Order: sequence, then structure tokens, then C-alpha cells
Amino acid sequence: MIVLGIETSCDETAAAVVRNGKEILSSVISSQVELHKPYGGVVPELASREHLKKIEPIVQEAIDRAKINLEEIDAIAVTQGPGLIGSLVVGICFAKGLAFSLNKPFIGVNHIEGHIFSVVFDNPPIEYPALALVVSGGHTNLFFVPEPGKYKIVARTRDDAAGEAFDKVAKMLGLGYPGGPIIEKIALEGDPQKAKFTIPKISDGKPDFSFSGLKTAVARYIKEKGINPVTHGQEIPQEVKDLCAGFQLTAIRSLVEPMQRLALELKPKTLIVAGGVACNMLLRKESAKVAERIGVPIYFPSRHLSTDNAAMIAAAGTFHLERGERADFSITANPMMKLQNYEVEDETLRRNVRYRL
Ligand code: KG4
Ligand code: ZN
Repeated sequence: MIVLGIETSCDETAAAVVRNGKEILSSVISSQVELHKPYGGVVPELASREHLKKIEPIVQEAIDRAKINLEEIDAIAVTQGPGLIGSLVVGICFAKGLAFSLNKPFIGVNHIEGHIFSVVFDNPPIEYPALALVVSGGHTNLFFVPEPGKYKIVARTRDDAAGEAFDKVAKMLGLGYPGGPIIEKIALEGDPQKAKFTIPKISDGKPDFSFSGLKTAVARYIKEKGINPVTHGQEIPQEVKDLCAGFQLTAIRSLVEPMQRLALELKPKTLIVAGGVACNMLLRKESAKVAERIGVPIYFPSRHLSTDNAAMIAAAGTFHLERGERADFSITANPMMKLQNYEVEDETLRRNVRYRL
């Protein structure tokens, strides 16, 4: 089955052609980073206008690079949510129009499920149950996945997403956008022991995530030390390098600790870490230690499939299409789309997954 994937949920216009849910024939991503850079974050109105300009040429490029004709695709998979409504609408309308004109089936895909499917390309088949951490600019959730297509959130962020914290800290320090890769690079030359932060404690003891306290602690640190934002072309001061290292270490530990706690309790057969923040090498290293401790494999997407792309949407779409699922022309963008469709039935598991029942 050849599926055309379309992704426009945030600031990447992406299209990909994937065969049988596993083989990427093409994956084209047009990033809007330069457009949003001056604002230090994504401006929704600008994002949708840019998607509108790019969607047609990007889909055409994906078809051309896959060396197929449009008629050769079997179906279309498009991100339905969550995301920015104006951005999602562009992808959905385009997908609907194409599906109608080609008379091909199409399906709406949950963006978060797409991130989880991003590991299918470069890893052995997933053994279930799996535990999947999805960390991006908009989401930080840990899913228990008893079988493909079933999801139960077992830990979530109480406030900000992890990627958002990286972006905000970079903005405070005048380092540019998106913050994650910049902070990771600068942190390499810093000493985390020189700028120590504590891992947030969740008041009710649940293994959830939280990043707003850390963000505030960094803001306070910047003020107390009198650190000025780095200006263009200026050499990065050592204290900023240390701060980046200290922040990164605490942010990554805040992700890995709840993951370890739940991995020990739920005993999954596979760990998955996906989403933009999965590019971070410290996160990869620390979460690999968790996998080693419980003796299971851990799968990451390759770096270019960690951030938003359409290949992962095509892969998740293929899974649903192969099960006979289809969308009709009434589907609309769902900016708050949830990924949770499983209630734990097994008694032992029910006790273990008690946090979210
Ligand atoms: O998955 P993604 O492309 O978009 C969303 O769905 O949000 O994730 C983008 C996020 C941004 O917040 C970015 O700063 C973060 O992923 N990110 C990283 C790294 N690379 C990207 N965070 C930490 N370390 C990185 N190397
Ligand atoms: Zn994403």
C-alpha cells in the first residue's frame, strides 16, 4: 500500500510517500523556522498563510521524489490534530480535495500517534506492551501501549511541554529559536555543576512531569546573576554555557525519572522515545540507561524523523487504513485531539496503572 502523508499541524509543511507503512519513498519538509525566528516562537497566523503557499509544491515534490504518479498512491493520511487550527485546516482541506479528485480513500491521523509511529522506520518490530514517551514543543506524555493502536496516558505534564521549556529558556538568554538544539550545543561546553537546579516534586507524588518551576528557577538565576541576553555575533559567556548545561540536565532528569518509575512498575517489553526533544543526545543516553536497567530494547526515531515530518503520519495512517478505517468528507481539524482509547482491563495492570484510572 502506497500512502501519501501530509503534515501541517505546526510550523512544518511536510509531505511524504511511504510504502507498506515502513519504506520511505520520499519525505519533504519545508520548515518555517526562519519566518518565526524574529518572534521567538510560532505565530499561528503566519504559519497558516505559509502552509497555504507551500502545501501544493511540497506535495508535488514528495510525489516527484518518490518517482511515482499521483494516481499510483493508494490512500492519503493527513494530520487531524492536535495542533494549530489554522495550520491543520490547510492540510485537511488539501487532503480532502486530493482524495476527492483522485477518488482515493483518506484518513485523519493523530499527530502524537504519528510521533510514536516514527520509530517503525529504523528499528526492529516493536514488542508489546510498550511504554512510549512523546516529548515535543507542544506535548509531554508517557503512553502505555498494550498493542498497536491502543494508548493509555500514564504520565503527563502538569504545565508546560519539555520542548517549550527549552524554547523559553533559549529566548530568555537571547539564543534564538527553536531552543532545543541550540541549548544542547551550548551545553556541551558548560558545567552543569556550576548551575544546579532541582527536579520538580509533584505534590501528590504521581509520576508526572512539570517544567514551569524549572523555567521560573532559570529566570530567577538569570536575574540574580545579572546575566544579559546574548547579542548577535557575541561570544557565548561561560556562565551562559554552564546555565544551559544545568538546565538541560535537570529538564532531562525530570523526563527520565517518571519514565523509570513507570517502566519498573509496568514492565513493558519495549521503550519508545519520540518527538522533537528525542533529538537530544542526553535524553537518548539517560533513557537508554532505563531500558538497560529493566532489560528491554529502546527505540528512537532517526534524528530527522524526530521532529515533525509526514512520513510518520503516513506510517500511522497506513496502520489504520490496513484495518479498514476510512475518514469521510465531514472530518474537520481537531486542535485538541486526544490520544487515549484504552482502559486497562487486566487486574494486575489495573493496579499498576492506577494513576490514571
Ligand atoms: O515534534 P516537534 O518538531 O514539534 C512539535 O510537535 O512540537 O518538536 C519541536 C520541539 C521544539 O520545542 C524544540 O526546541 C525541541 O523539539 N527540540 C529539542 C531538540 N531538538 C528539537 N529539544 C531538546 N534538545 C534537542 N536537541
Ligand atoms: Zn510534533
